[in-house]
Amino acid sequence: MGTMERFRLTDRRAVVTGASRGIGRAIAVALAEAGAEVALVGRDLRSLATVAGEAADIGGRAVAFTADLSNPAAVEGIVPAAEAKLGPIDLLVHAAGVTARVPSTAATLADFQRIMQVNAAAGMQLAQAIARGLIQRKAPGSMVFICSLMSDRARPTVLHYTMSKTALVGLVRTLAVEWAGASIRVNGISPGYIETELTRPLHDDPGFNQWVTGRTPIGRWGQPSDIAPAAVYLASEAANFVTGQVLYVDGGWTAAL
Ligand SMILES: NC(=O)c1ccc[n+]([C@@H]2O[C@H](COP(=O)([O-])OP(=O)(O)OC[C@H]3O[C@@H](n4cnc5c(N)ncnc54)[C@H](OP(=O)(O)O)[C@@H]3O)[C@@H](O)[C@H]2O)c1
Repeated sequence: MGTMERFRLTDRRAVVTGASRGIGRAIAVALAEAGAEVALVGRDLRSLATVAGEAADIGGRAVAFTADLSNPAAVEGIVPAAEAKLGPIDLLVHAAGVTARVPSTAATLADFQRIMQVNAAAGMQLAQAIARGLIQRKAPGSMVFICSLMSDRARPTVLHYTMSKTALVGLVRTLAVEWAGASIRVNGISPGYIETELTRPLHDDPGFNQWVTGRTPIGRWGQPSDIAPAAVYLASEAANFVTGQVLYVDGGWTAAL
């Protein structure tokens, strides 16, 4: 197989969370462009339908599935529903994420539980459901979790988010070593500061905006389209020998002192 051919996702079926906007949306459309059939997961059916249309416009296939990932029971329904519609799932990208920016003395247990459930536990549940099917079918698979600069670094006021993103690194490494023998690869992508709804308050704050631009060696905020090709790579055969890694797509942020 030629090198470029190894990046193709023909005959692969993916579940992508956070597919309604931002980074997850860009990844979902890129996977569809690479040939995968994609189950788009989010809460907002209208946005998901728009993304499905975008995938169709470039010759791909994507189907919308609504689920609230803060509800573990709703998460359990996603893979069976996607498999009933698309067939056996072999790829996962868990891009859904939420944050709360509050001083750590005021951070509530309820917020901790919600943020951990959406950002980390829902990804774990989906990975388990997909892996059970892959192992039963003796089929290879690939999973990608969207981590963060906060998977390895810290800033004030994002305690729960940071805890959830460090948890994802443990998830990536554990599943990678446990499932490597079953030909299931598990990796993470840590984006730098990317311009999306999640970071709009930061982007709109002139001081913070300037800090990000100045602190990022490449000298700008990232775009969702900067992240999507890395997800295609990790999902594909091109990354056949890559597992248990977290790839920083951060404009050089973590390389700089
Ligand atoms: N933007 C950045 O600078 C940055 C940097 C590092 C890491 N990340 C990570 O990248 C991922 C995507 O972030 P983004 O910036 O693209 O954020 P975003 O634009 O706010 O999108 C968040 C996505 O998560 C989904 N989501 C949130 N809560 C959900 C819930 N309870 N149930 C189902 N889906 C839910 C949203 O879907 P609905 O609202 O339609 O349900 C939406 O699709 C997150 O994991 C984030 O932590 C972002």
